[in-house]
Amino acid sequence: MRFGFFDDLHLEYVITRPDTPLPWINYLGTESYFGIISNTAGGYSFYKDARLRRLIRFRYNNAPLDGNGRYVYLRDDDAAQPDFWSPTWQPTRTPLDAYTCRHGLGYTRIASQRKGITCETTYFVPLGQDLEVWDVHLTNQRGTAANLSLFSAVEFCLWDAFDDANNFQRNYSIGEVEVVDGVIYHKSEYRERRDHFAYFACSEPLAGYDTQREDFLGPYRGWDAPAAVEEGKARQSLALGWQPMGSHHVRLHLEPGESKRVIFVLGYHENPENDKFDPAGTQTINKKTVLPVIRRFLQPDVVSQALADIQQYWRNLLQGMQVDTPNEHANRMINIWNVYQLMVTFNFSRSSSYFESGVGRGMGFRDSAQDLLGFVQLDAQRARQRILDLAATQMASGGAYHQYQPLTKRGNHDVGSNFNDDPLWLVLAVTAYLKESGDWSILQEQVPFDLEHGSEDSLLAHMERSLNYTQERLGPHGLPLIGRADWNDCLNLNCFSDKPGQSFQTTTNREGKVAESVFIGGLFVLAAAEMEAVYDRLGLTAKAAELAAQRVNMRAVLNTAGWDGSWFRRAYDHFGNPLGSQECTEGQIFVEPQGMCVMAGVGLEDGRAESALNAVREHLGTPHGVVVLWPAFKQYYLHIGEISSYPPGYKENGSVFCHTNPWIQIAEARLGRGERALDYYLRINPSAREEISEVHRCEPYAYAQMIAGKEAVKPGEAKNSWLTGTAAWSYVAVTQWILGIRPTFDGLKIAPVVPEDWTAFDVQRTFRGVRYFIHVERVGAGNAVRLEVEGAPVEGDVVGIPSGGQTEVRVRAYLGTA
Ligand code: BGC
Ligand code: NOJ
Repeated sequence: MRFGFFDDLHLEYVITRPDTPLPWINYLGTESYFGIISNTAGGYSFYKDARLRRLIRFRYNNAPLDGNGRYVYLRDDDAAQPDFWSPTWQPTRTPLDAYTCRHGLGYTRIASQRKGITCETTYFVPLGQDLEVWDVHLTNQRGTAANLSLFSAVEFCLWDAFDDANNFQRNYSIGEVEVVDGVIYHKSEYRERRDHFAYFACSEPLAGYDTQREDFLGPYRGWDAPAAVEEGKARQSLALGWQPMGSHHVRLHLEPGESKRVIFVLGYHENPENDKFDPAGTQTINKKTVLPVIRRFLQPDVVSQALADIQQYWRNLLQGMQVDTPNEHANRMINIWNVYQLMVTFNFSRSSSYFESGVGRGMGFRDSAQDLLGFVQLDAQRARQRILDLAATQMASGGAYHQYQPLTKRGNHDVGSNFNDDPLWLVLAVTAYLKESGDWSILQEQVPFDLEHGSEDSLLAHMERSLNYTQERLGPHGLPLIGRADWNDCLNLNCFSDKPGQSFQTTTNREGKVAESVFIGGLFVLAAAEMEAVYDRLGLTAKAAELAAQRVNMRAVLNTAGWDGSWFRRAYDHFGNPLGSQECTEGQIFVEPQGMCVMAGVGLEDGRAESALNAVREHLGTPHGVVVLWPAFKQYYLHIGEISSYPPGYKENGSVFCHTNPWIQIAEARLGRGERALDYYLRINPSAREEISEVHRCEPYAYAQMIAGKEAVKPGEAKNSWLTGTAAWSYVAVTQWILGIRPTFDGLKIAPVVPEDWTAFDVQRTFRGVRYFIHVERVGAGNAVRLEVEGAPVEGDVVGIPSGGQTEVRVRAYLGTA
């Protein structure tokens, strides 16, 4: 069952009923001012940092789930009895005669009709601005004139979203606003050390306004029936303490067929530190620099142009790669939505979605490093900066802060650093950047260690320390020590308690002294091979050779201690017992080491890879994707940790943890099995799952972190949509390994591994400033490739970068052996 449809031409998903199984959201903003918006206008906004600079208050886990947002109310002022509604359905949930929500790239448009009044509101953040626009279009479709009241409503967050939800003894007394010339300024905490404030403005003359929630709503009322709206009369309330909000009241007269446009602007502003207050010496905000911005974005032409600019911005970005393959779901995700999600994950890491509250986590080190694997193709400059920011949270030991706060870029001390896979992801991110951009200068950038301590070295040296970090931490079998956890955050093999019955949270983490990870071993082999290629190109042959020796050693260990007979083991616990082995009754086989080892090329030459992937298919494959492990843990084990705290089939305990699925796709491609690679790709492809939206429940245009596994109560039910490494890895898997269009240090490789029944496909891709037009045509079975560049045959499968200043290159690839 569907709740809407894809409008590929307009790059939109169109939701056709408001009661989607879960709120289906979109993201607004590109660089510093961001927002989340649901299909019923729920959500919130923030400046740079979802925790520290939150503009709109949002209550997670509310009932209904999605109960705060950017609301407008309409009231029929001619009706005999109070008659008002939400044109975005929430929060009044009044039945509407028509409803659509178009989630586009960087904007959301919600349109509805009730009693002959149509209302269409477009929400977006103009490029380069720290504000959002709500562009409301009203039309009277009745045969008679209509007198309407339009109310806006937004509840302000007192900036630090964590404090906002906690420190009520203080918060109830700090709220402050100003209302000047119809503009509502939210300036809580402004008088203190802060120099920032929010403003909320309206293009029309006001009949009134409200800034105190209780006055607007009325005592003991909720957002579904505000007293001010019901009565058609704003209170002119001025908040001091309690709950500051912003609401404008506009009265409109519409002749039959007449339309009106009302623009609201909600924004963030910082005044210079020495020019915060009005010169008059009052504690009033100095509005000198903000007023021109407000005036500008209340003008209809400016707003229309700003929306057109965003649409153009996205069309340009998508041009980076466009494909035409025999599969519509692959096309749609590669050409539109997967790219969009790359941007979203780049911007938000794992901080703010409808499942991530924005207060708990900032930017994740391993998360953002992996997000870059896909994002490098979109914006090399921003990718470069992110790499340097990440590396700057690395310590001299090579270990890295697991998370950092985007506003301050400082590592998070509470979470700490000993996730032993973290540093290696940096190596992969940098080499992906090098291959895409050819910008080798980044390696010489001087980057501090742990910002706080002042020492620094080149990025190249940071990468070297990443690899050394693994080598300096090998366990009894010669495998890397797992530390607090590796990629699987919930595999906590070093947790102990002297007191029986304690949960993983209260136990002592022994800093990973003994437990080992096969997965990190595979990751090391992959990262080391990449680094050796870098050393080779820099002429650092001795370093390359030293690393190669370590890599060969690690391979040998993976093939012995890491091998279980039919697949790769997962880990060894503190007591030296294997996980992911036939010896185990639960957790016999895990997906991560199969994917990572084969991606690293381990076992390709001796049948191990094939055996491991066949075992994945047999034990982990389900119609909804590949589950992370089997059989799931049925009870809690202290020495295994959080993974066993989940019920079977959920999250790390046996769900389809989507992030790992592209690894298997890539691994299958490395084995040359195109049918299987594509089959796995389509099982989790959101568009391909659109038909079962009532089962999947999350958005059909974004990957979710997990889909409940075969041992779950509701297999196929997705959760935690949007902020997941699945976006980057799926993009890499399908574009670079299945379609096989892969940046290398020396050019663009064309090595498709697609099903036998794919007779042809086309790819256009910009690479190092050159546009490649690639036509792939099957001439026989198998994956052998013969290339023609500009009509002339070339050796091998890499198309070089033209030296003669050409900006376009035409490639024909003949696939298979006739
Ligand atoms: C979640 C993991 C997540 C981790 C982050 C755990 O509770 O289950 O998926 O990676 O928290 O710290
Ligand atoms: C989500 C976390 O953000 C990511 O870092 C981790 O690898 C996965 N969960 C698996 O635990």
